[in-house]
Amino acid sequence: MQLRDKVALITGAGSGLGLATASAFAREGARVVINDLHEAAAREAARGLGDAHAALGGDVSKESDVAAMVEAAVARFGRIDILVNNAGVADSFVPTVEQPLSHWQRLIDVHLTGTYLVSKTVAPLMMRQGGGAILNLNSIAGVLGLPVRTAYSAAKAGIGMLTRVLGCEWGPHGIRVNAVAPGYILTPLTEGLIAAGRIDPTRIRRRTPMGLLGAPEDIAEAMVFLASDRARFITGVTLPVDGGYCAFGAPSDAFAIDDLDPRTAA
Ligand SMILES: NC(=O)c1ccc[n+]([C@@H]2O[C@H](COP(=O)([O-])OP(=O)(O)OC[C@H]3O[C@@H](n4cnc5c(N)ncnc54)[C@H](O)[C@@H]3O)[C@@H](O)[C@H]2O)c1
Repeated sequence: MQLRDKVALITGAGSGLGLATASAFAREGARVVINDLHEAAAREAARGLGDAHAALGGDVSKESDVAAMVEAAVARFGRIDILVNNAGVADSFVPTVEQPLSHWQRLIDVHLTGTYLVSKTVAPLMMRQGGGAILNLNSIAGVLGLPVRTAYSAAKAGIGMLTRVLGCEWGPHGIRVNAVAPGYILTPLTEGLIAAGRIDPTRIRRRTPMGLLGAPEDIAEAMVFLASDRARFITGVTLPVDGGYCAFGAPSDAFAIDDLDPRTAA
């Protein structure tokens, strides 16, 4: 029970990594407010966790939605101790010169502006409470250069710097700001990319020292630690949870697999 009596707001938690994090937080004793753009998905996720938890629709890139969401969370639970900025959308994988500006704008709006907006809306409340923990979702795409993943990568790299800046600015208020940078994790988002032929799980496994794609629980457990008081002196950092993907730099495969090996995830 590492998060006993804490109240956590998790954006985009109707599916994937946000949902796995919500389940792990609930297991550790937190009351969780599940936000998602798709309100029905948020409601279903909250129902799955039980009566102690709540669901809120809303778009993290819209100022009025964010204000209403934070107000409703506080009306229900009286406080917010943990914020996870998880909401996200996938790349189009279209070459940069062919991308419409609207695609760039949407990805920057949801990932980077959304993280900024929800954080700055929740922070004054955390300051009044005497502290809190904010967790952001970075990515290997925010650290390494991935062709055609233009807006997603730029947004994630921006989230890496936002994590440092806000960690420094809000440290004196007892608010810790950290990020997790997942490698390839099997969620509806990555399953969609695999189904569309945009990423190849066999190649990813070869490029990953630990030889597998991750599971959502791998990210959720790192989130539990960073949100908990056990991480009380950690702020402004991005923790890779990627099976060694970003550490690897040799000009060879990181892991030898047989092409016929059907496993993709842990
Ligand atoms: N899955 C991976 O391998 C991976 C790797 C690195 C980083 N990430 C990041 O982790 C986060 C979660 O990814 P996932 O794989 O669980 O994806 P997912 O598609 O399963 O879940 C993302 C959720 O965000 C919601 N969402 C989208 N736009 C929103 C908005 N404007 N406001 C509120 N909610 C919104 C979606 O409805 C969806 O439920 C994203 O930020 C993603 O970039 C994922």
